[in-house]
Amino acid sequence: MSDMMQTQAGDAGAFRNFDLSRVPAPCFVVDEVAVERNLAILRDVSDRSGAHVLSALKAFSMFALAPLVRQYLGGTCASGIYEARLGREEYGGEVATFCAGYKDADIDEILSLSDHIIFNSPAQKDRFLDKARAAGVQVGLRINPEHSEGEIPKYDPCAPCSRLGTPVSLLTPEVLAGVDGLHMHTLCEQGFEPLQRTWEAVAPKLAPYLADLKWLNFGGGHHITRDDYDREALITFLRGIRESHGVDVYLEPGEAVALDAGILVGEILDLPVNGMSLAITDISATCHMPDVIEAPYRPALMGEAETGTTYRLGGPSCLAGDVIGDYTWERPLEIGQRFAFLDQAHYSMVKTNTFNGVPLPTIALWNSDTDALRIVRQFGYQDFKERLS
Ligand SMILES: Cc1ncc(COP(=O)(O)O)c(C=O)c1O
Repeated sequence: MSDMMQTQAGDAGAFRNFDLSRVPAPCFVVDEVAVERNLAILRDVSDRSGAHVLSALKAFSMFALAPLVRQYLGGTCASGIYEARLGREEYGGEVATFCAGYKDADIDEILSLSDHIIFNSPAQKDRFLDKARAAGVQVGLRINPEHSEGEIPKYDPCAPCSRLGTPVSLLTPEVLAGVDGLHMHTLCEQGFEPLQRTWEAVAPKLAPYLADLKWLNFGGGHHITRDDYDREALITFLRGIRESHGVDVYLEPGEAVALDAGILVGEILDLPVNGMSLAITDISATCHMPDVIEAPYRPALMGEAETGTTYRLGGPSCLAGDVIGDYTWERPLEIGQRFAFLDQAHYSMVKTNTFNGVPLPTIALWNSDTDALRIVRQFGYQDFKERLS
């Protein structure tokens, strides 16, 4: 899940063959073969379009796979000081950092870690421009194209009064002084056509400035690795922009890197009844899949039946709203039974927390070709305690 509703139907793919009892619950299991399949697609787009493709760490920062990501992509896109450091330390390549607001206390370190620093407003750009220049870091400005393609205002960076990006109608030569490139991020889990429409809306307003720019960054939200994404049109589009405007072009997909590449395995803890069949599980919506509540969305259950017994699944926390959704199993559930939610590699692992002292899921890496399984990280009481004081 990025900033919006996630596709609800899912295809278990190779996970259909994964024995859920091989890992402790709860556990994220990521299939490195599926990640590599996504990376190969993104690399092909990069090779044939000439665009730089950076992996957005906010969506998927399982750095155990950094050596693999590095083989295919040109670097990372960071949301601030910690992701910039993770990108520099683990992934290598270019680091493009965008943050809605930089602090004096962090700026030197961020500049030492970044190749591009992208500011949200002209005021932030003016405040840190000299430092960026002195550090040899290229300077970007995030623009707000004032053209909405998102359906839900909460997740639409171009909604009225959005704080994200400098409205394109406010661009002037002064606003752009010292700027090497422009950045825009307005899409979420979308195909090629919304990108094209956004560019058509914004291009006339950028026309006076394009000749002075070194690069254009089209952000993330491109579901490039989805089967129905029109990749040929994207490649033609990106090549066209590079050639007609003489700029480098960047994309920062996050979700597309890890799409359909991971599951979250859980266990049934109790089966109470209150007006309907309920199931308490060791997966918590609020702690392990917060987008279920925030977005909100209904994660796809592996092997969900069309008819059978329907249970309302919820987490072990005290939050009344820690409910994942209503799901149907062919046969009645049993205590200790395993189950898994699909497509959980992105925007779940990066968002976990230990509210209520709920344990963090283990992280495991599986290879669906060889069936090799490695527990990458297990968390315990110390991880909970160290975030408190
Ligand atoms: C600035 C920026 N770049 C890249 C991304 C990655 O988007 P996605 O994971 O949807 O591809 C996001 C997501 O919110 C973003 O805000």
